Amino acid sequence: MEKFLTVDDLKVHFPTPDGVVKATDGLSFGLDRGKTLGIVGESGSGKSVSSSAILGLHRGTSARVSGSIRLDGTDLLAISNQEMRRLRGKDVAMIFQDPLSALHPYYSVGNQIAEAYRVHHAVSRKEARTRVVDMLARVGIPQPDRRYDAYPHQFSGGMRQRAMIAMSLINDPSLIIADEPTTALDVTVQAQILDLLQDLQNEFNTAVIIITHDLGVVAEMADDVLVMYAGRAVEYGPVTEVLTHPEMPYTWGLLSSVPDVTADTSKRMVPIPGNPPSLLNPPPGCPFNPRCVHRHKVPGDLCRTELPALIPGNRGEDHLKRCHLSNPEMIYETEVVPQFDPALAEER
Ligand SMILES: Nc1ncnc2c1ncn2[C@@H]1O[C@H](COP(=O)(O)OP(=O)(O)OP(=O)(O)O)[C@@H](O)[C@H]1O
Ligand code: SF4
Ligand SMILES: [Mg+2]
Repeated sequence: MEKFLTVDDLKVHFPTPDGVVKATDGLSFGLDRGKTLGIVGESGSGKSVSSSAILGLHRGTSARVSGSIRLDGTDLLAISNQEMRRLRGKDVAMIFQDPLSALHPYYSVGNQIAEAYRVHHAVSRKEARTRVVDMLARVGIPQPDRRYDAYPHQFSGGMRQRAMIAMSLINDPSLIIADEPTTALDVTVQAQILDLLQDLQNEFNTAVIIITHDLGVVAEMADDVLVMYAGRAVEYGPVTEVLTHPEMPYTWGLLSSVPDVTADTSKRMVPIPGNPPSLLNPPPGCPFNPRCVHRHKVPGDLCRTELPALIPGNRGEDHLKRCHLSNPEMIYETEVVPQFDPALAEER
């Protein structure tokens, strides 16, 4: 059965004077209501560009978008701009990293959320206010009736993020895309916001895509994880499976940089040695090959000549990986895990 959200062979290409930037190059995934997909990958791997395509944010730009994005059976790449505007903010909402960029400084927080509601509902200002005050209370803003009239700069960072979550939820969206929603917040507030998001998701049965650099957040929040590298999925499957039995050296690199993915969400990804490839001229073969310390284990020069397909690994149909290694489990257990933090290695 088709998932609530089904993305198939999505490509977002930007023509530039130097050539075509393939920011998203054949991405496929699915997500059901009430479930969370975590998308991880280094800066520039195409996380935001891919999720912006779901909201139709590349429309009217020079970007070339192809493939299909189906939400509850509707092809989002085929609908009119008007239909897309109706959908945006109502059925699909976005939570950005920096709420100040989404909240206008000149209008009170409450009025902005009320406007977002009134765009999609024929209600009076008073009715909208009642609804917004209720939502501000739901996201944990104290004295919501008074805070309604405050301006964004009068809110703390955590409160602004709560206000933005209130704005994104005001129309009961069925899909929320949260792009680095807690990166700018301190650890305690981050945990509160993530808890809040999870509570509201359970209440409204929302599908959530959470984009993050933080594998701790993925371990805590997500049901499935999609690891992106150079515009493509390189590993994809259930979180419990991918984080405990990863089969792709890039995922190993991400994991080795986090001391304990299950315990501490404060740890950020330490960059893997080397640089992400240019999306204008990605290296031939596996795009990770210039940085991969395991490529000599693949016979011939396959890693440098042939792009691996995204195929099921050895542990089941729902765990996909893009790598030529034939025995990744053994390499992971005998070579990679021993290099982890000793406490973590012992736990495994
Ligand atoms: N309008 C554009 N024209 C050309 N290239 C673009 C455009 N928008 C994005 N890109 C490129 O697409 C690639 C993917 O960008 P994207 O913002 O999706 O990365 P990201 O994975 O979200 O990174 P970060 O973690 O830093 O947010 C980057 O190399 C970026 O420079
Ligand atoms: S295909 Fe080769 S270069 Fe790419 S991750 Fe696997 S071993 Fe490394
Ligand atoms: Mg981004």
